[in-house]
Amino acid sequence: MNFANTFFTFFLLALSQLVSTSPVLVTREAEVVWSPTITYPDGNDTVWQSGPTVYNMTWYTDDIPEDAQNNTGVIMLGYFDNDDNDSDEHLDWKRPLASGFALTDGIAYFTIEPSRNLTTRNSYVLCLLGDSGNISKELTIEAAQA
Ligand SMILES: *[C@@H]1O[C@H](CO)[C@@H](O)[C@H](O)[C@H]1NC(C)=O
Ligand SMILES: *[C@@H]1O[C@H](CO)[C@@H](O)[C@H](O)[C@H]1NC(C)=O
Ligand SMILES: *[C@@H]1O[C@H](CO)[C@@H](O)[C@H](O)[C@H]1NC(C)=O
Ligand SMILES: *[C@@H]1O[C@H](CO)[C@@H](O)[C@H](O)[C@H]1NC(C)=O
Ligand SMILES: *[C@@H]1O[C@H](CO)[C@@H](O)[C@H](O)[C@H]1NC(C)=O
Ligand SMILES: *[C@@H]1O[C@H](CO)[C@@H](O)[C@H](O)[C@H]1NC(C)=O
Repeated sequence: MNFANTFFTFFLLALSQLVSTSPVLVTREAEVVWSPTITYPDGNDTVWQSGPTVYNMTWYTDDIPEDAQNNTGVIMLGYFDNDDNDSDEHLDWKRPLASGFALTDGIAYFTIEPSRNLTTRNSYVLCLLGDSGNISKELTIEAAQA
């Protein structure tokens, strides 16, 4: 498990986007570091299937700082591979599960498209990015291929 790493990656990304436009913003952005508390998937034997079913991810909104109230979020799918020693989340940056939703919604909906050609694993995670990021507990996805 390494959500600190996810956070750091996102932070660098945010910085790299801002650096070119305004160094003043970098300082301001650095002060706003809210990591969402993910409430679902909650590690309670969650099993999803790729296909038409609409799933959701939820998080607490009470603690969103003022400066991040208008932010939109992005949800990435990733997984841990037990054969791999670097605790990489293998996040699929190219194909977010959901994006453009308001962080204050506290929920986002999506399907697991068969065209992702996933492998069935019990170690998938969802990463929610908006201000800083955090990852969910692990869940199982029973995969179908397109
Ligand atoms: C998991 O589900 C069981 C049975 O519904 C419930 O008692 C338990 O509180 C749940 N645990 C979590 C972490 O949600
Ligand atoms: C989110 O998903 C959970 C688990 O499938 C479900 O119990 C819940 O009703 C869903 N929430 C909404 C608002 O659709
Ligand atoms: C968020 O949006 C509202 C309404 O557009 C605006 O009044 C407020 O200043 C914005 N807050 C931030 C931190 O950008
Ligand atoms: C993980 O570590 C073991 C023992 O140190 C090593 O044999 C193996 O090649 C490593 N696997 C990867 C994917 O780096
Ligand atoms: C999924 O597999 C199909 C059949 O092998 C292939 O045509 C398609 O390009 C793959 N999609 C992705 C996103 O890899
Ligand atoms: C990240 O989310 C988990 C639930 O998946 C929660 O237990 C943890 O407190 C959150 N981490 C931070 C830094 O908010």
